Amino acid sequence: MKVLVVGSGGREHALCWKIVQSKRVSKVFCAPGNGGTEDISENIDIDVDEIDKLVDFALKESIDITIVGPEGPLVKGIVDKFKAKGLRIFGANKKAAQLEGSKVFAKKFMEKYNIPTARYRVYRDIDEATQGLEEFDYPVVIKADGLCFGKGVIICNTREEGLAALKHIMVDKAFGSQGNTIIIEEYLVGTEASLLCFVSQGKLFPMESAKDYKRILDGDKGDNTGGVGCFSPNPLIDEDMKRIIQKGILKNIERGLEYEYLDYSGILFIGLMFTQRGPKVLEFNCRFGDPETEVLLPRLERDIIDIFQKTIDGNLREEDLRWSEKHCVTVVATSKGYPGRYEIGKEIQGLDNMDRDIILFHNGTKRVGNRLYTNGGRVLSLTALGDTLEDARNKVYENINKIKFDGIYYRKDIGEI
Ligand code: AMP
Ligand code: GLY
Repeated sequence: MKVLVVGSGGREHALCWKIVQSKRVSKVFCAPGNGGTEDISENIDIDVDEIDKLVDFALKESIDITIVGPEGPLVKGIVDKFKAKGLRIFGANKKAAQLEGSKVFAKKFMEKYNIPTARYRVYRDIDEATQGLEEFDYPVVIKADGLCFGKGVIICNTREEGLAALKHIMVDKAFGSQGNTIIIEEYLVGTEASLLCFVSQGKLFPMESAKDYKRILDGDKGDNTGGVGCFSPNPLIDEDMKRIIQKGILKNIERGLEYEYLDYSGILFIGLMFTQRGPKVLEFNCRFGDPETEVLLPRLERDIIDIFQKTIDGNLREEDLRWSEKHCVTVVATSKGYPGRYEIGKEIQGLDNMDRDIILFHNGTKRVGNRLYTNGGRVLSLTALGDTLEDARNKVYENINKIKFDGIYYRKDIGEI
């Protein structure tokens, strides 16, 4: 089989890494890929948003199955376009991808189908939104409706910050038309967890749980990032909690997917907050998480192509997913300045000295000849499996200091719960 993976991050490297382990696969392409995917697949110089070019490529190469990493092309309808040409593709279609592409769509879905979430109001007008602020306590959360490269959620501690956030989104148009509509939302106190599910024609199959670290500094301080460390399993989601989530959240999502005719096969990533009043949904993504994928796929003990095929055909079963008992930890090495402005093009050294049981996923690297350079804010995800969380964590930290590039930074407390 020939497989095309769309994307260029650590998530896509982890996907390629797992896909090449399938006996059914003869060739993997990654568009556009990175310095890590280049080692195990063929990078194709087509960007993730160039959907027509991707369709042409898949037709020309007779690709058997395409896997989409990032949300952008899903929201733009890549799945619909591939299917219209008779091409097989794994991911949410355009209608279903609104669960990630529009926060208003997602919140209305949650409200309609009794999925526990933060109280919210929707506004299209700055004056009404300013008045609406009065109905909420502080901190309050203000969100732009559309995709904003992870920057569209602003947590405001005071009324002044709230007013500034409204101006930023609705008057200054910091996110363009993605911020024409906004949500003001109750701030939830608790601990976050990521639960990714395969969606096999509307039926949800949860993967193992994961804990993502979103803040750049130790102790969960500093700015929000795309995620700079992760581990799995997450002890917060024990068997009892799994039952609560199944009954109170997953069943209702399945009902909503059916009643709204959101017939997709792909991934639903549920961002959860464990509050004193039980688990609540913060957000939906319709794609694999990054860095969640880097800790989930090393624990998956089944052929992922088989899972993708069955998911698309709507006949995935629970026994098709088998997970290792081991714990997995990943720590992301980032460029100086990330998640703000950062420089790229720094030479990376020391990767040959890793212990054998380290799995190295590249987030943002570029190979030039036989040298490797940084090419993003998140650069490398050092990953290890271990019998315990501590064991996995120690393996990563014993190796990460061997990596050298100008301005390298990583959190020192990943996996310390
Ligand atoms: P979202 O894209 O909606 O997940 O928001 C990004 C991040 O903002 C989440 O992972 C949380 O850390 C934070 N966040 C979003 N909504 C809320 C909320 N209602 N209460 C507290 N934190 C939130
Ligand atoms: N790590 C969070 C995300 O992929 O959105």
